[in-house]
Parts: sequence; structure tokens; C-alpha cells
Amino acid sequence: MSMDYVTSRLGSAGEEQRLAFGGDYNPEQWPEEIWHQDVALMREAGVNLVSVGIFSWALLEPSEGVYEFGWLDRVLDLLHGNGIRVDLANATASPPPWFSSKYPASLPVTADGVRHSYGSRQAFSANSPEYRRAAAALTQAIVDRYAGHPAVVMWHVHNEYGCHNQPDFGDYSAAAFRLWLQRRYGTLEGLNQAWGTAFWSQHYYSWEEILPPRTSGTWVNPTQQLDFARFSSDALLECYRAEAAIIRAASQHPVTTNFMGSSMGLNTPIDYWRWSQEMDLVSNDHYLVAEDLRSFQELALVADLVRGFANNKPWLLMEHSTSAVNWQPRNIAKAPGEMIRNSLQHVARGADGALFFQWRASRAGAEKYHSAMLPHAGTDTKVWREVVQLGGILKKISEVAGSTVDGAQVAILHDTDARWGSELDSHPSSDTDILAETRRWHDAFYRAGITTDIRQSTDDLSGYKLVVAPMLYLVTDEGAANIEGYVNAGGHLVVTYLSGIVDANDHIRMDPLEGGGYPGAFAGILGVAMEEFHPLRAGATVELSAYGSGTIWSELGRTTTAETLASFASGATAGSPAVTRNSYGKGLAYYVATTLGGDGVSELVGSICASAGVNPAVPDIPADVEVVKRSKDGTSWLFIINHSGTEAALPVRGTELISGTAATGRLRVPGSGVAVVRLSGTA
Ligand code: GAL
Repeated sequence: MSMDYVTSRLGSAGEEQRLAFGGDYNPEQWPEEIWHQDVALMREAGVNLVSVGIFSWALLEPSEGVYEFGWLDRVLDLLHGNGIRVDLANATASPPPWFSSKYPASLPVTADGVRHSYGSRQAFSANSPEYRRAAAALTQAIVDRYAGHPAVVMWHVHNEYGCHNQPDFGDYSAAAFRLWLQRRYGTLEGLNQAWGTAFWSQHYYSWEEILPPRTSGTWVNPTQQLDFARFSSDALLECYRAEAAIIRAASQHPVTTNFMGSSMGLNTPIDYWRWSQEMDLVSNDHYLVAEDLRSFQELALVADLVRGFANNKPWLLMEHSTSAVNWQPRNIAKAPGEMIRNSLQHVARGADGALFFQWRASRAGAEKYHSAMLPHAGTDTKVWREVVQLGGILKKISEVAGSTVDGAQVAILHDTDARWGSELDSHPSSDTDILAETRRWHDAFYRAGITTDIRQSTDDLSGYKLVVAPMLYLVTDEGAANIEGYVNAGGHLVVTYLSGIVDANDHIRMDPLEGGGYPGAFAGILGVAMEEFHPLRAGATVELSAYGSGTIWSELGRTTTAETLASFASGATAGSPAVTRNSYGKGLAYYVATTLGGDGVSELVGSICASAGVNPAVPDIPADVEVVKRSKDGTSWLFIINHSGTEAALPVRGTELISGTAATGRLRVPGSGVAVVRLSGTA
């Protein structure tokens, strides 16, 4: 079961597949006569899929066990009558006030011991038995009523798990955490070893002594923090599993829950790699950071990551915005055309549709300043015209549905545990940032026109010519062995500083008798032995003998078998290797011991790609022109998204689907424009 199931149910008779187009539809915020205008305008824009009922619990269940489905019956019938399909929510994301006031112990508690109130959304602890019971009952009632409704084609469990309410440090979670730890470690001795409790007199003699990492005088045991992050993700996953199981017992439609993969949201308490295994199709919400002048590159990074979660299968962009959001410091509106480019970037990178939060801009509530497909100002607006235009474009390119972004030659590794581990407190520098480092490397490939997959350290890497591990701080034994095997067999690997430093328990990888040096897991592959971290002062740079200068980090150490490509040339580490290359097995392994500037990363990426035989989809791609290829059954489509203000010309032959014209060798894409070409012959 997959995205194909949905896209093959979105068109009218005779159409094989349609890309999904629509958004969250919240008709309960409006009087019923508005609903008729809604569906008429949805038809005008070509909307074919809407998510309904996400925040409707309070209206669907006005008191415990009493359900009122009449209004939802009418909404679904109206949508069905107009050929609009529904991604139906089970409405468990926000328990109503009657529930929270009746079961106050279900409310989540912060690390400081403050119990959250209700009055916003998502006010529950994942480990509250009352919440789980009520969510299961509501799910069952909704599925009983709507599993057979002809408008429904997929299920939307909950909404953005982990948004606002995690982790919960209350007593329910404390009890569940102990059970989780017992399953993980078996014995208290195992836990004491894993947590390194010989340090600071933290030895546990009874399971009952163990707590969530609540606020304490200073740094709480790091392994306890890491395990609590893992446990908190698993606790929410149990909620998802229980609700999905109820749905699956009664319905064939695919089940998903929407992830929060955006650069702000990536730092969520959810291990999406694990969760993805449980999705019938992966769906993601993405919002630009409006201040970010290269937000399109961040979008590309996130879309590549989500495609990784989806294991390269088509996925669904469940939410993005037509223009401004309401929750950033300055909610900057999108420029003309930006929304269309954003949507098509997601499609280029594997999404089989583009949905928005939300259909009609709210009149009341905390999100009334959030943009929507239908703005407050109505249809005589920039946003509405672009929405209609996008609907038309998605229809014209619908043949790409079901195709995939195959054949990336480069993988960037990003493990959830590496992120969580690297973000723990009491580390060498508060400036080190795994997401920023990952983005720097992704940006260099992006600028070079090279599509990258994002994978985990334990994934099969054998198909990649080049693998980059930016700050893979925590690596498991399995991940380290997989990476070693990849290089040994002939792969090219780049490892940055703060990689392979700790094991799965956040213990330093070292040999206490022999020494040897950092980075423990990879020192042998890299042919280096680094002995002392020298993080830099805020804003300081360190000179390098090549590749410009570095920031944030430097190291004192030496090569063992590697060749030095650049040394630190100033400061306390002058003379130590900064960029190295080592022959290992049949492969090559590079080490980068500082944060290179953008030009330095690009220069290094350029030379490594040349030696690894990595090429862009099309030669000589102009700056800020994004080119990504999707393929299916021997046909390929090239997405060309011009983020620059100037016309780009590319060597492409085929049919440009948006204009319906032939591309006969040199395709011109206007500044800020887009093109989607069904290729004939090779690009
Ligand atoms: C998402 C959420 C939506 C809406 C949106 C606003 O995180 O799923 O319900 O709040 O943000 O940007």
C-alpha cells in the first residue's frame, strides 16, 4: 500500500493517476452556507484531496462516549458529490476541555514539574491511560462510521506527533520509562553500566529510584537524557500504532501521520527513521524559515530527507503554506511565484502532491494570520490566482505520479541518535550544530547540481559513489561496521569532526589501554589520530593551508596513514591536519577537522566528486537553478526550478509539460520560472 493507492483515486474516470492537490479543510470553523462556496472554489482550483477532522474532537464527541457525526456526514457527502477525495483524520490530536478537566492527570508535565493546562492544543501525555483509552474509542467510532464512505481514500492519524506536548516528565511517563528501560537493559546492572553511573555517585539500586531527566542542579546524566528521548519517541509511536491498528482492522485505505520535517521542526522528539517503517505512506509538513535567504535550499534538504524516510518511494507533502505563517518572529509573505516553485521543488524531490495548511484562512483563533489557499481577501488576490495556477500545473504534470528520484550518486548520513547525542549538554562547544553542518554539505552539492539522498549509517550504501557523514557524533557498532565495509569495498567517504566519537550509550569510543585518538570509530579508516579538541572562540576563524579558513572547531593531532590536504595554519593547532585523505581497502576516506566556509566546502566537494566520478543530472547548471530527475518505467522527467532572477538555458530534449511545447536541445527557463520536461533520449 502506498501513495499510488491515493493518486490512482484522485482523478476522474479515465485518468490513471493525479498528483494530490488541496489542504487541511476545517469547515467546522464556518457556517454551513460557506461550505458550498468552499467546494465550488475547490473545483475551480482543481483541488482533489482535503484533510478533514484533524482538530474536531470537541465537536465530534461533546461528552464522553457521545458522538455527533451529523455535520461531518454532511461535509463528506458534499465533498464526495463534488469529486473531492478525503484524507480523514481520527481527530485525536487535541483532547477537548471536558476531557482534560475530567482527567487532569492526562495533562503533560515539563522537566520543571509544571503541569500544562489545556486551552491550546495537544494537551496530553502519551503515557496517560485515560488519553489512550479515549483516543482509541474515538478512532473506533470514526472508523465504524466512515470506513466505507466513498469520499475517503486515506487516513490521517493524529497530527504532528510530538508538536507542543513532548517530552512529558510526569509520573505516568516515569512509570512507563522504567518499563522501557527494563526491556532495554534487562537488569539494573546493565542500566548502571550503560548510564555510566559510577560517575557522580549515580548508581541505582532499585528501578523505583529511576526518574525522567527532570530539572536538577546541573547536567543530568547524558545517557539518561538520550534514553528518555528514545523512550519518548517510542511512547508516541505506541499511540500511533494503537490508533493505526484500529483503522487497519476496518479499512484498506493507507494510514499515515504527518511528520514535522523542516529545519526548525527537524529537532523534534521523534525518531522519524523508525516511525517511517510504520507508515503506509510517508507524509511531511514543511514550512520555510522566512528570514532565510536560501530557504529553497533548506527545502531541498528536507525533501531529500523525507524521501529517505520514505525509502525512495513517492511521499506526500501534507502541509506547506501559500504565503506567510503566523509563528515566526517576522512572518514574511512569499514573493510572487515562490509558492509554486516551493510546491514543485517538493514534487521534484519525490512528493506525489502538494497540500497546504489550510484551505480557507481562519477568522478566529491563534492561526488567523496564517496564509491559506483562500485568503481573507478572497479570490481577487495574488495567492488565489497562484493557487489556481498551481492546480493547473499539477494537473498538466500528473504523469509524473508514481515515478521516483532514482540514481542519486551521493548519500549524506543523518542518524537520529547522532543528532540527539550531539545536542546533549556539557559538550566541547555550544557552537557545534549537526543540522547546520549537514546543511553546509548539502548546500555544496545543491550548488553543484548534484542530487543527494539522505540515509542512515546502517543503510545499504553500496550503490553510492560518495558518502558524507557530517557530525555523525554517535555511531552504533553496526553503523560503524557498515561504513567501514563501504569504504573497504571501494566507496569514497567524507567524515567531519565530531563524528564517531561515542557509542550507542554515549560513551567515548576509545581504547583505555592503547589510546589511539579521535575520532574513535573512524580513526583507522581515516588514517588520523587526533588528540585534543580546540573549539574556537565565538566568531573566530582559523587559517588553513588550503580550502580557505575554518570556524567553530579545530583539533590538535596527526595523520597515521593519511595524506594531508590542508593543515591548520594559525592558532594553537597550527601544523595539525585539517583536511586529509586516506586510502583504505579499495576506497578513499577524507577527514575534515573544522567547519569550512561555503567556498571551501564547494572546492573540496568539487575535487572529491571529480575523483569519485559524481556528475550532475545535466552539465553546467547555472547558479541557483535546481535540476532533479524523476523516472518511471523507462521514462524520465526533468524538473527545472529557476530560483535566480535571470533566464537559464539548459541542454534538454523532450516535451515541456507546463507549456506543452517541444524542447529541442536548449530549453530556456525564465528567471523565477519552472519547467517540467518529459525527456526524449538522454539529458
Ligand atoms: C502545523 C500544524 C497545522 C498548523 C500549521 C501552521 O505544524 O500541523 O495544524 O498549525 O503548522 O503552520
